[in-house]
Formats: sequence, structure tokens, C-alpha cells
Amino acid sequence: MSRPIAESVCDLLNRLGMPAVFLGEVGSTQDEGLRIARGGCSPRMVVTAVSQVAGRGRQGRVWISPQGGFYASLIACPVDEPPAGLTVRVGAAVVDSLRRGGVTEAVLKWPNDCLVGGRKLCGVLAEFFPRDRCLLVGVGLNVEQVPHLDLARELPGGYDASCLAGLGDFDQVELCAGVMMAVSGAVDAAMAGEDFDVDLVNSMLWSTGPVSAGSLSGMVEGLDASGRLLLRGHEGTIACVEFGEVRDACRH
Ligand code: BTN
Repeated sequence: MSRPIAESVCDLLNRLGMPAVFLGEVGSTQDEGLRIARGGCSPRMVVTAVSQVAGRGRQGRVWISPQGGFYASLIACPVDEPPAGLTVRVGAAVVDSLRRGGVTEAVLKWPNDCLVGGRKLCGVLAEFFPRDRCLLVGVGLNVEQVPHLDLARELPGGYDASCLAGLGDFDQVELCAGVMMAVSGAVDAAMAGEDFDVDLVNSMLWSTGPVSAGSLSGMVEGLDASGRLLLRGHEGTIACVEFGEVRDACRH
């Protein structure tokens, strides 16, 4: 049987100086990350797993996680509060890293989904545990297959899924390790209050509209300096989306 990608990525991360542990099947790497943080660990550390039986997505969704995908969580501790704009910064860092690794068509669906050809390749879940002063940033990347396809069809916006293997002949281990290093870099930059490169992130956005978010709708104008999504309405008014899920109007 071939070596699990999570194990190879873990080895590469350790060689790159990022402490990383490799686990077999887990409930969720987020839960494992919290358990490790509670026991004491490096300020930045990655936990990877072969598969998850209780993988979590954003907005209370399930992330189906069989073998053949990449599942990892970055542990950041101690953290007193999640830095402003963290979610979109991390999403942008993931997309940037994938583009640099050759997935040139990767785009950012605000705030932190990565799409290729209108299909979801990678999702990010940031969770903060104040009592443990622990921030966890989980990454799920479809590598060999698109296990959550049926679920994805039910997602807001009706997104199908894509996988790395279906997109080209990439060095999958380097790509996944690069993504986790980029996530760590984005967390560091956000914690240090570094400026956010709005133009770069705007150049990665998935759409120029029309979209809706809750009661707001309009054409995607871009992000503001805090990473909020700006929508231009019919009369030229600008609405600002701070949280939540964006739907592409043309996909309804
Ligand atoms: C989403 O797009 O809804 C976010 C998906 C995040 C999935 C990853 S897989 C590794 C980590 N562990 C989890 O339980 N979830 C995240």
C-alpha cells in the first residue's frame, strides 16, 4: 500500500522546521490539535491524519474525510484572541500557495474557500478556544478524489468539488506542506498586525458578482483593508459583508 500523503507531508514539514505529528484515523484533527495543545506543545505545530470520522466544516457542516485526502490542523498557542481578518488572510495564503505550486487557476471564494474551475478544492476552518488560549486552523484538501461531492452539491451556491489528481501532475506532498507553511505564515502576519495586501487578494477573488450574503446583495467590488467583502448595489451603494456565507446569484 502506498504511503499516506499525510505522513509524507508530516516528514517534509519537520524537515522544514515546522513541528508536525502524523496520526492514523482520528475523529477530527481539530480535536487532536486541541488535545495536543492542552498537553503543551510548540507555539506552532501541525497535526495531520490519514482520515477523519468526524471531520468538521464551516457553518456546522460535515467534512467527509476518507483516506486519499489531506487533513491537517495548525495549532497556534498561546493566543489571547483571534487576530482581525484572520479567516480571509488564511484563505488568501492557501490560494497563493497553491498558485505558486502550479495550481494557477486557484481562486479565493470569500472568505476562505479555494475553488478551481468553479469547484471546491480546499476548505479552511478556524476555531478559537479561549480557555485553552488556542487557535486551530484546519485545512481539508481533496487530493485523490472528491469524497464530499454529494454533500457539496447541497452547499450554499451549489458548488461541486475538484481534486488535485484531477487537475494535473503536481508534487502533492510539496503542495500540501506549502499550504500548511503558508497558513502558519498568515497566522503570524495577522498576529503581528501586518498590513494585508488587498490588491493581491482582490486579484485572486472568484467572482465579480452578482452575489448575495444574508440580506445583502450586489456585484463583488473587492475587499476592504480589513478583509471584509464589499458589494456594489444597483444604485452604486456599497454594502460590507463581515461574516457568513456568500452565494453566487447565478448558481441558484
Ligand atoms: C469548510 O470548507 O467548510 C472547511 C473544511 C475544513 C476541513 C478540515 S479537514 C482538517 C480539519 N479537521 C476538521 O475537522 N476540519 C478541518
